[in-house]
Amino acid sequence: MNTYNRFPVAIKQGKGSYVWDTAGKSFLDFTSGIATCNLGHVPEVVKYAVADQLEKLWHCSNLYQIEAQEQLATLLTNNSNFDQVFFCNSGAEANEAALKLVRAYHTERRTIVTFNKSFHGRTLATLSATGQEKVQTGFAPLLSGFTYLPYNDNTSLKSLQHDPPAAVMFELVQGEGGVIPADQDWIDELVQICSDQQILLVVDEVQTGMGRTGTLFAYEQYDFEPDIVTLAKGLGSGFPIGAMLAKEEVANAFQPGSHGSTFGGNPLAATAGLATVTELVHSPVIKSSLEKSLLLITQLKQLMDEFPQLKGIRGKGLLIGIEVDGMAGEIVRKAIKENLLILTAGPDVVRLLPPLTVTEDDILLFIEEFRTVLETLFS
Ligand SMILES: Cc1ncc(COP(=O)(O)O)c(C=O)c1O
Repeated sequence: MNTYNRFPVAIKQGKGSYVWDTAGKSFLDFTSGIATCNLGHVPEVVKYAVADQLEKLWHCSNLYQIEAQEQLATLLTNNSNFDQVFFCNSGAEANEAALKLVRAYHTERRTIVTFNKSFHGRTLATLSATGQEKVQTGFAPLLSGFTYLPYNDNTSLKSLQHDPPAAVMFELVQGEGGVIPADQDWIDELVQICSDQQILLVVDEVQTGMGRTGTLFAYEQYDFEPDIVTLAKGLGSGFPIGAMLAKEEVANAFQPGSHGSTFGGNPLAATAGLATVTELVHSPVIKSSLEKSLLLITQLKQLMDEFPQLKGIRGKGLLIGIEVDGMAGEIVRKAIKENLLILTAGPDVVRLLPPLTVTEDDILLFIEEFRTVLETLFS
């Protein structure tokens, strides 16, 4: 159906930071399938693990024990402050599960607070949670029980004390909303109020998770422990898998029959997830992505000196936004002509999401080509 404004590029193959179209033309891919192929395209460790699993078993119901799913859950909980995991197939589904768990836990409270410019998915519950009118328009009546506060605004947090909701749900870098990192002092105050009022902290790490911001989870950089975290995108290197992680006390609100999924965490998806997270946790890829982030940001700042149309650079790790005042769409279209794939995050921000495995040479080539794009547009 006509649900995407597609670019005239037909991608047939990928490896590392590159993809090739059906005519054999190569593109440097700084989108990573929108923060999904964090280990680059077709990473060997995941490829071999999935190929091996393909020979053994593709699917079995969650009515039976699934070894790879249990191992993936253990790996995720061993590397976080969570105790239990529910597996699904996408970010929206992970958030749906989180919204249900919040209501199952806080039986006396129905409201969930989210933030302006957030993005939590396209299902009816998650678009109701999303603080963007453009995502909600045309789909009323929305699910009731959501209220929205301004992001990074300490003053408005006081309203949480008057009538405490069941939970707040937020991103630590608003991705789709314009690559806006949360301020540490705002998080500190939010966490304090939520702790005082028994409000659950739900962090949507669908885009920020799995090393994207320079740590396995972005919350590690903000020095607090969420009650629930949601994941998808980078969890399976492109294989569809999502997850909701929760602390035991909260997770116990779900009983057999509370929630479920036919495909969630099936043997193939869980194998892709297990190979991906094993690599993220045990190899230096996340740590070295921070050096790549520094190089890319330094180079972009130099471009800012040459092109006043670039108004600012922000982000965390390899989730980077360039402020461009209404020019984002045009820059992205022009970049395709220079064999670069990049994204927008709204009309004013160009978003860069290279794989965590991006090399220095890839970055320097990117800067060279991106300069050409800017020269064509602005000189
Ligand atoms: C923060 C966040 N949450 C949820 C979603 C929805 O994920 P999915 O498209 O896998 O349903 C996205 C997708 O961009 C996202 O960035």
